[in-house]
Amino acid sequence: MKHLIGFTLLAALLYTSFANAADPNAPAGSAERGKQLFIKNTCISCHGTLGQGGERGAGPRLAPNPFPFVAVQMQLRQPRGEMPRYPVEFVSDQDLADIYAYLSSIPAGPAAKDIPLLKNFQ
Ligand code: HEC
Repeated sequence: MKHLIGFTLLAALLYTSFANAADPNAPAGSAERGKQLFIKNTCISCHGTLGQGGERGAGPRLAPNPFPFVAVQMQLRQPRGEMPRYPVEFVSDQDLADIYAYLSSIPAGPAAKDIPLLKNFQ
């Protein structure tokens, strides 16, 4: 039992540090250019302009705290499911780095308790 609790805490800690860290191994990119590419390549139609995720499962949430760069790269080059493939002829490695920089730059929204309008319903 002790082990289980220790393991759970460790897993939670690892997950949190993992999920909040910007990927230090990601190549340098321009978030501003990445935003334009995110729009131009129609990522927004399934994932939303801020990577918040599409409706009715169109595409999952991508930001804040995107997956590590290699995972995003893998998904574009060899998508595992319904997503169209983006080979290097359409999205170059630099484009991908810029898109990743954009996704990494998207800040978390405010907590529900900090949104004044929502207080009216408490
Ligand atoms: C036609 C809809 C569609 C478009 C366009 C699209 N995606 Fe996706 N995306 C998906 C779906 C659906 C998934 C879930 C996994 C799958 O089906 O491959 C996904 C998964 C992902 C993931 C993995 C996240 C996760 O939680 O699974 C990343 C990263 C991603 N997309 C990035 C992009 C980027 C960047 C673009 C544009 C270059 C893009 N997608 C364009 C539908 C789309």
